[in-house]
Amino acid sequence: MRRSEYCGLVKPEHVGDDLILCGWVDRRRDHGGVIFIDLRDREGVVQVVFDPDNAEAFTLADGVRSEYVLRVKGKVRSRSNETVNESMATGNIELYAHHLEVLNQAQTPPFQLDEHVNVGEEVRLKYRYMDLRRPEMQKNLKLRSEVTHSVRNFLIDKGFLDIETPIMTRATPEGARDYVIPSRTYPGKFFAMPQSPQLFKQLLMVAGCDRYFQIAKCFRDEDLRADRQPEFTQIDIEASFVDQEDVLEIGEGLINEIFRKHLSVDLGEFPRMSYKDAMRKYGSDKPDLRIPLELVDIKDLLLNVEFKVFSGPANDPKSRVSALKIPGGAELSRKKIDEYTEFVAIYGAKGLAWIKVNDLGDGIEGMQSPIIKFIGEQTTLAIMDRLDAKNGDIVFFGADTHKIVSEALGALRCRIAADMDLYIADWAPIWIVDFPMFEVLEDGVLTPLHHPFTLPLSGLDELSREPSESLSVAYDIVINGYELGGGSMRIHDQKTQEVIFDILKIDKEEQHEKFGFLLDALRFGAPPHGGIAFGLDRLMMLLIEKDSIRDVIAFPKTQSASCLMTDAPSHVDSNQLNELGIRARQLSSQ
Ligand code: AMO
Ligand code: AMP
Repeated sequence: MRRSEYCGLVKPEHVGDDLILCGWVDRRRDHGGVIFIDLRDREGVVQVVFDPDNAEAFTLADGVRSEYVLRVKGKVRSRSNETVNESMATGNIELYAHHLEVLNQAQTPPFQLDEHVNVGEEVRLKYRYMDLRRPEMQKNLKLRSEVTHSVRNFLIDKGFLDIETPIMTRATPEGARDYVIPSRTYPGKFFAMPQSPQLFKQLLMVAGCDRYFQIAKCFRDEDLRADRQPEFTQIDIEASFVDQEDVLEIGEGLINEIFRKHLSVDLGEFPRMSYKDAMRKYGSDKPDLRIPLELVDIKDLLLNVEFKVFSGPANDPKSRVSALKIPGGAELSRKKIDEYTEFVAIYGAKGLAWIKVNDLGDGIEGMQSPIIKFIGEQTTLAIMDRLDAKNGDIVFFGADTHKIVSEALGALRCRIAADMDLYIADWAPIWIVDFPMFEVLEDGVLTPLHHPFTLPLSGLDELSREPSESLSVAYDIVINGYELGGGSMRIHDQKTQEVIFDILKIDKEEQHEKFGFLLDALRFGAPPHGGIAFGLDRLMMLLIEKDSIRDVIAFPKTQSASCLMTDAPSHVDSNQLNELGIRARQLSSQ
């Protein structure tokens, strides 16, 4: 009794055929003497009809319940005009059953699949295999499989080799906390799980593999957000004898191909913007360019105003004073403005000054604001002039450190665009290039913005002289405000690498301890090389236009990095710990 077709794929062309279908009971309805069962499988649902003429099948059908597993044999027939269901892909036909086999029973499900929205995500994650039966989730998983297939085809056609790298390894330099695995054979020692295959892919270039890719699992113990998982997947790419242009071309080609093939969307050529410009205009290195709003710097206009909140930062080289104009925003209520003031406080902003432009013709009289009286008419008009403000606009202000103003106004820009639906495009990809080489931490310490193997754009002299100003050959791809991928050209000569380590104050011992194997490899003929990695989960999230990465991962972790279904992480028994030479100091109560 081999299945002849998926339920969801039965078509009018099958009318008259005898088919064997298998699946789960989606719904069972008893219509006075006739039983209808919607039978569901991965491809969709089909209506199966049982009537008392087939007494045995009818009696069995009477006893089935939701999620029972069935095999039915019957004849496909057209539905009469009045029973056609246009909202169903198989709504023109039905299977008239003459044989039914109950392959398995099911307990009452923890939630009805079509009522999943009414149960908390916790329940869905605990019974994930039930949640995954939902057509939407099946569709997401299928699309993910199709996308990875396209990725593999694209890259293999371009000469990339699919090579696996270890999961049990040493700490990798992506800046998050490691997940570690204790070693039994070396008590007290640990493997680390890779935060990315970064070091291995570089070693594959030294090994002469020339073009590598991998759909690679990465592990990072970091604070989770809607678009972050502790265990996630990268489309990881590295190539030798290439420059930034080559990598961007491959990356752009890949993303374009996926959008074309799976969404029928032509993203066109991706624009590019320097990190510096992105921070200046959008306050973010992952700007959402669907939003036609920009931050405008007005420091120079506020040097001499009385209002200390503005003149203080205006006169401080470490600070930023910017304005964000929202066309049509003058209608925002006081309550809404208060809400935005609370919102920017999350990013450290101490307030959110604003000016509403009611009627420019009336000069200062035509404006409404708590701050005009402090900054004066002339300055106010100069600001409005710079912003090209129009009647009906509102202008928000931020005055604080660079970081606070950029983050606060950058986030406000996105928040208001979402609230007022200001988007002017469906898709806005952009390459962010020329990243700084280092990030200056609050105590003045330098840390690599990406990782310490990133090739500097500046020469070694300049790098040593003004490291905090130096740029790197690193790039990110951002789509609709999501950082979809990032990469860089790598350092392939020992000397540059040493200068970088000196600047980072990583001494010889630490270099050797942490990256000795890579530094050794650089001495044995490393070719120039570079690459990129895309977040596959984020890519999928964009493709299905959802905000949660959990919708595109079969078995995701919760926001607090646990698996509710398997109840992991879990305690291990004390023998196992003994064998590993580990004693838990404190056992959590959970
Ligand atoms: P990076 O750390 O920028 O670069 O990671 C590349 C891409 O991976 C995705 N990503 C994540 N997705 C889900 N959950 C997470 N916790 C998570 N962290 C990162 C993002 C990101 O853009 N080795 C370098 C790449 C290189 O230089 O070639 C790297 O890992 O979409
Ligand atoms: P205050 O004099 O502190 O009451 O502030 C007057 C206005 O300036 C209020 O609308 C505040 O929200 C706003 N404000 C205060 N500090 C800042 C700041 N650092 N950046 C932008 N606006 C601010």
